Amino acid sequence: AGPCDIYASGGTPCVAAHSTTRALYGAYSGSLYQVSRGSDGATTNIGPLSAGGVANAAAQDSFCAGTTCLITTIYDQSGHGNHLTQAPPGGAASGPLPGGFDNLASAFAAPVRLNGQKAYGVFIAPTTGYRNNAANGTATGDGSEGMYAIFDGTHYNTACCFDYGNAETNSRDTGNGHMEAIYFGTGDGSGRGTGSGSGPWIMADLENGLFSGLSPINNPADPTINFRFVTAIIKGEPNQWAIRGGDATSGTLSTFYSGARPSGGYNPMSKEGAIILGTGGDNSDGAQGTFYEGVMTSGYPSDSTEASVQANIVAAKYVYDISLMTSGPALTVGSSISLRATTSCCTTRYIAHTGATVNTQVVSSSSATALKQQASWTVRTGLGNSACFSFESVDTPGSFIRHSNFQLMLGANDGSKLFHEDATFCPQAGLNGQGNSFRSWSYPTRYWRHFNALLYIAANGGEHEFDSTTLFNDDVSFVVSASFA
Ligand code: AHR
Ligand code: AHR
Repeated sequence: AGPCDIYASGGTPCVAAHSTTRALYGAYSGSLYQVSRGSDGATTNIGPLSAGGVANAAAQDSFCAGTTCLITTIYDQSGHGNHLTQAPPGGAASGPLPGGFDNLASAFAAPVRLNGQKAYGVFIAPTTGYRNNAANGTATGDGSEGMYAIFDGTHYNTACCFDYGNAETNSRDTGNGHMEAIYFGTGDGSGRGTGSGSGPWIMADLENGLFSGLSPINNPADPTINFRFVTAIIKGEPNQWAIRGGDATSGTLSTFYSGARPSGGYNPMSKEGAIILGTGGDNSDGAQGTFYEGVMTSGYPSDSTEASVQANIVAAKYVYDISLMTSGPALTVGSSISLRATTSCCTTRYIAHTGATVNTQVVSSSSATALKQQASWTVRTGLGNSACFSFESVDTPGSFIRHSNFQLMLGANDGSKLFHEDATFCPQAGLNGQGNSFRSWSYPTRYWRHFNALLYIAANGGEHEFDSTTLFNDDVSFVVSASFA
């Protein structure tokens, strides 16, 4: 059985069931999600290996071989047709794509194993979002509902709002109580909504406030929760709601808040019933996080039903296997390397820096020592994720290749979470078949690309000029060798 079979037997059936990693009903054998590939725009649906089983990651790998792939649709398994697709512009933010749409997630950025089988989660970088503004069967008004989601407890930020759940049907802030979604992160920067420790926290996004308890400001009983896989629960019914959570790989759930609604427009609630993933209700799109699976129910689930759902989640055996984060020729921490471009224009050019600017320059064994050093990089364990790598300048120790406004720069490590994440890259087998392509950890649709002799993190067909599809695979593929200096 799956989580939704358990909710149904508890009298609170799923009305939305989303997962790119597994079927959420024992009998479900339909599509889990759809991907679109960069080479020709073709799409395919990925289903489970068997009814009730883990997603067929091998089908995605073969469809997407040698190109980029995005998750275009996360199907609703509940039969209500509540599929999640690319979020449209909202009151707070328009996405960067034509028409104001948000970005889609890379299909490759969140690999995991379930019971040993590889599957892919949904890695939400800032500006990424999914939504359904015409959902059927979800709670409206002061109606009752439950929700759970499994997140990566190490992937979060302080920006509004990495959410999954119930939101406005017009992508606008229509007032307090018009949302009821699970939020995960360190708050939205407004100072509202914190728990104990430094976060991240599971909170409820009830619109114009992230709530850790009765007061939006602080509930010390809402703990910092950063298991690699977090089970996060928000549920609500008339003048009653709860925050619950735990480790999705072992143990039971704890209750961090259970009680009355906050005052100030949140009682009764005015839920609208749309479904969001990765943004705030008004499409505020600065947040990041990773989603593996989640559901919304009709009715307020009992704690004992949720205990059975947690046991089912633990039995799915989520494991973070870091070997899945990289591919292609292996890099060795502590070694010094040079990186040669492979586009036919530029095969004598190497990734180098001139001051803070990262560029390509023609370098050879007879070049001056200073240039050789500018084109040499020491491989370090990823500052933002130890499964991946950072690249320290040989001639400027303490400075690393990082992206900023999607351009690669040389910057001194300031110790911040943002710097560490901007300076972390995950090598893949080169998209053109040569060497490696270097995927940004924090914006994983984006790869190191040389473009007019400068380096960017580029998405295949994205919103910038340097995202051009022309020569994309060649421009993002670099041959790694021992360093010049
Ligand atoms: O409640 C926090 C956020 O405030 C909501 O997600 C958004 O709609 C508003 O900006
Ligand atoms: O490069 C994209 C973003 O731009 C980085 O994450 C941030 O440092 C800068 O604002």
